[in-house]
Amino acid sequence: MSNITERPSNALPAVLSTEGAPLPPLLSPEWERAVTFGKRDLRNSLETHGSPLHVLAPEICAANLRSMAAAIGEFGVSGQLFYAFKANKSVAFVEAAAQAGFGIDVASEHEHKLAAQHSAEGTAISLSGPVKGASWLRRAVAEGCLIGIDSFEELQFIRSLLLKERPRQLARITIRVNMESAKCRFGVDPEQLPACGKLLVENNILLKFEGFAFHLNGYAVGDRINATRRLLDTIDSFASIGLESYVLNIGGGLPVQYVAEEDFSYFIKNHHDAVSYLGHAPGSFYPYGGQPTAAEWLKAFLSANGASGTIASELRSRGLTLLVEPGRAALDQAGASLFQIGAVKKGKDSTTLFLNGTSFNACETWFQSEFLCDPLILSEHAADADDCREHRYYLAGHSCLGDDMISRRAFTSSRRLRVGDVLLFANTAGYQMDLLENNFHHHPFPHRSVLEPVSATANDLKARTAA
Ligand SMILES: Cc1ncc(COP(=O)(O)O)c(C=O)c1O
Repeated sequence: MSNITERPSNALPAVLSTEGAPLPPLLSPEWERAVTFGKRDLRNSLETHGSPLHVLAPEICAANLRSMAAAIGEFGVSGQLFYAFKANKSVAFVEAAAQAGFGIDVASEHEHKLAAQHSAEGTAISLSGPVKGASWLRRAVAEGCLIGIDSFEELQFIRSLLLKERPRQLARITIRVNMESAKCRFGVDPEQLPACGKLLVENNILLKFEGFAFHLNGYAVGDRINATRRLLDTIDSFASIGLESYVLNIGGGLPVQYVAEEDFSYFIKNHHDAVSYLGHAPGSFYPYGGQPTAAEWLKAFLSANGASGTIASELRSRGLTLLVEPGRAALDQAGASLFQIGAVKKGKDSTTLFLNGTSFNACETWFQSEFLCDPLILSEHAADADDCREHRYYLAGHSCLGDDMISRRAFTSSRRLRVGDVLLFANTAGYQMDLLENNFHHHPFPHRSVLEPVSATANDLKARTAA
């Protein structure tokens, strides 16, 4: 970045705005301080470690989980939160969650091993995922983890495994129920629940039934309320055959607000077609704005009506502990991704900025959708003659794949962007950072740093390496 004349500034960075409908990111105070007073250090960190760079704030993950737990506590309901490991590959979040006393939801034996290595107790590990297999189940039983059974066949499999191997411990079981019928391939079909109940009753010296679970697509609290109402009846009918439930696991799907509600609805109403590079217009978007906070969402859930009282009172009267497995919401504001501009290519009516990094590090475009949150421009340089007009940009990754677009919408800026400039995508930790990360073209995996507190008076951001 030698061509950049630094203009020291304690102002928030400029936004590279979606053309016609800006979507500036909402920033927590920690990030606002980091991008205001720590711009230079963030850029230095990227210079040291290469582009892209993921900057993590594990403490924010722990704080998010605490605020969700407090929301449940306000209703006098017993609750247990499990951070869903799948939302980000970094074990720094697992450590932060486990050290703050929360559980970890794991969806593979590999996640399980890492969670155990990084301080999660076996009894605070909950297994989800449709394919478990003998080795993982053996480990889960030995460590006293909660096993979310995904099908009647899986229940039969674990029973025969335990019959054969006779471990000292009972397997702790929840039954995940498919509450979405044909829309979902996960969970036990409700019609098979009587067969599961019979098997559990007949094998209670091997299998310790603890309750039910579900996880739904989407983020609507109303869907979770309906599913819970239906499952409470199932809980009662299982209790009548001697299978008492202690827990109800409502999975994840708690919302995150990335941009202001009015910005998001303006974009949706007026500029949906703006997302159209090479004619790819996504059919749907995550609701990036206008969502409640995760804590408000939990309060709406618990205060909704069940059959005889609120959901909270229904849970209390049955002595049920509410289990929740937030991934995305646990990582709200817990990380950002920095990309350096590696090449600039002028076209007829727009310029393509090739970022050093691929859209595998910013993955919504691979799901035929779009991360509707505008990047911040971290570089500051003196205005040049070109800066008095509006520039139109597309953002591409540096691979040879035509579809490797970091974003398919056009952006505008009154600043001309150059090779070496740095863009920061805020709030990427939940699924945006590394879900599809790979080392395509043998590019190394991006480095991860931990955001250290930034004071408002000095450029004292230090980034230490994270796992
Ligand atoms: C069983 C289960 N629990 C929790 C989650 C986490 O969901 P979210 O990140 O939307 O909170 C998922 C996501 O796929 C899941 O499948």
